[in-house]
Amino acid sequence: MTGNVLVAYGTTNGSTAQIAEAIADVLRKNGLTADALPARTVASVSSYDAVVVGGGLYAGRWHKDARRFVRRHGRALAERPLWLFSSGPLDPSASERDIPPVPGVKKAMVRLDAREHVTFGGCLEEGAKGWVAGMILRSGKGGDFRDFTAIEEWARRVAAELTDWD
Ligand SMILES: Cc1cc2nc3c(=O)[nH]c(=O)nc-3n(C[C@H](O)[C@H](O)[C@H](O)COP(=O)(O)O)c2cc1C
Repeated sequence: MTGNVLVAYGTTNGSTAQIAEAIADVLRKNGLTADALPARTVASVSSYDAVVVGGGLYAGRWHKDARRFVRRHGRALAERPLWLFSSGPLDPSASERDIPPVPGVKKAMVRLDAREHVTFGGCLEEGAKGWVAGMILRSGKGGDFRDFTAIEEWARRVAAELTDWD
């Protein structure tokens, strides 16, 4: 398959956008065409052959832009190869073990017949929006726990599946 892939993301503080860009870069390096775009700016997925949707985790839920995106484009997503990712844990846990999707994402996975979901570590740094973010940072629990080696490895697997697609 010579695929055109959309990597749509929901982010508040930008770290999930950087993960999406890294995934799109790997897809391009592996011969695919890929756009990484904020989920809320995508009007239609009709020009894409496959889609990756990612969202930051907030209070046990996917970012609202990612939730709305899979609701709004459900029918088109169910007809395409689809991968989901979340980014959240502010500790090394995501690099140490598989973290299952939160319940809402699990439901979307089943409903849309997504091929796979992965949880990547999150990132929260000085300047993040919101008072809860400020509290987390003041308590010393912020940091960047994204593992770009693991992110790129996962993206290579997505690319391999797409390039082997009949
Ligand atoms: C208010 C708030 C709530 C959060 N809730 C969760 C959560 O429920 N689970 C989790 O794994 N991470 C949680 N996090 C960490 C974020 O998911 C992490 O910072 C993520 O990288 C944010 O993505 P973004 O920079 O794309 O917005 C929370 C962070 C904040 C500030």
